[in-house]
Amino acid sequence: MGQMDNIRNIVILTGAGVSAESGVATFRGPDGLWEGHRVEDVATPEAFMRDPHLVQKFYDERRAKLKTVQPNAVHMALARLDAEWKGEFLLVTQNVDDLHDRAGSQRLLHMHGELNSALCLACDIRSAWNGTLADGPPCPACGAQALRPDIVWFGEMPYHMERIEAALAACDLFVSIGTSGAVYPAAGFVQTARACGAQTLEINLDPSEGSHLFDESRQGEAGTLVPEWVESLF
Ligand code: APR
Repeated sequence: MGQMDNIRNIVILTGAGVSAESGVATFRGPDGLWEGHRVEDVATPEAFMRDPHLVQKFYDERRAKLKTVQPNAVHMALARLDAEWKGEFLLVTQNVDDLHDRAGSQRLLHMHGELNSALCLACDIRSAWNGTLADGPPCPACGAQALRPDIVWFGEMPYHMERIEAALAACDLFVSIGTSGAVYPAAGFVQTARACGAQTLEINLDPSEGSHLFDESRQGEAGTLVPEWVESLF
């Protein structure tokens, strides 16, 4: 990427790979399982209808685990970039952990929901949540015992798509970090950004499914490559 001088508006997409070095499991590990489960068995509305207790317990464990992990060098570098970048900036994360938030990122959207949030199936209101859901607590807004994890499952519409599409259309640089590029619509953001004239960079441990779509693809640990890249921008 030669012409960084011309960059004013940046959109960054992150995936599970940015939290891997904090000790949060990625979805598509070498064994193809996510903490011992097939993704479809815990991350679909059908799975929740079939066995709500299993799904609630699974996300309760993930939510509890957040209290034991810390933001790493990637989260810190991206929070610094947000704080210091004078142009437009948007960090879109597919991650449901709160590590970007805790690192201090402000211009941040969680497109796949958040572990620390509960969605009420009765009143549709999202409430901040850091306890358990498997025990059927009442919704803070309406009192119904109808809370589910506020996670965007397969087949559901991601959050904030209009804002994300607008930012992609207006960006000069799109950077994808730590995502396998297996899940749409996020996997298609690179094509939207390119079509609108942006430069595109991927940083990932292995080549992702869409590596060939980027102007440049850097392979290695995000904890090393991302702080280096952020440093190079200033
Ligand atoms: N540095 C950089 N990349 C890494 C690192 C690391 N230290 N560790 C792992 N990776 C890469 C892996 O090589 C892999 O390509 O991160 C990627 C993680 O891919 P996935 O596990 O598929 O996670 P993600 O792309 O975020 O998944 C997308 O799938 O199930 C859904 O909704 C869920 O948001 C999730 C979506």
